[in-house]
Amino acid sequence: MPLRTKVCLVCESIMLASKSLQLGAQAIKGLSRVSHFSKFVAPATITPRKPCVQDGELYSTTATSSADGGNEEKEKISVTFVDKDGEETQIKVPIGMSMLEAAHQNDIELEGACEGSLACSTCHVIVMDVEHYNKLEEPTDEENDMLDLAFGLTETSRLGCQVIAKPELDGLRLALPAATRNFAVDGFKPKPH
Ligand code: FES
Repeated sequence: MPLRTKVCLVCESIMLASKSLQLGAQAIKGLSRVSHFSKFVAPATITPRKPCVQDGELYSTTATSSADGGNEEKEKISVTFVDKDGEETQIKVPIGMSMLEAAHQNDIELEGACEGSLACSTCHVIVMDVEHYNKLEEPTDEENDMLDLAFGLTETSRLGCQVIAKPELDGLRLALPAATRNFAVDGFKPKPH
């Protein structure tokens, strides 16, 4: 009887030891899984996204600059100025900008002595294509009054400060007259009508 009890205790110890080993093995497996998880998941969720630097400019990797660039192109029209010697200069003019401003920004010799306040005719331009001329807004009485005083007036003459870029005017060609009259320099004063 005491021997039997002793054997049982030994068996029990072996069984306990075996169970402990099994539990240990399971624990190691569990740890291993956690380690794999951290290997594959942690870098993607924890590592902050680095910005990119290209050509000295910082930009987001989600930016769609090419699409925006396309729109920018559409918001400008092509205009050609032809000077008195027949030399042509083609420029891009943003929608809403006057031909006088566009000329000044591109070093084209269009005077504009009164800076667009309809008090001179030094921004006189001749629209070379009747189709484009017909797409322009009707000249106001003030513009017509100033045009009457311009040198070399033609059927398609306009004041450059009153011609505003719009999509229908794409391809516009403007001739610069051989001379303009600057009231301030010439001492000429327009008479009231
Ligand atoms: Fe004087 Fe155009 S700049 S009328």
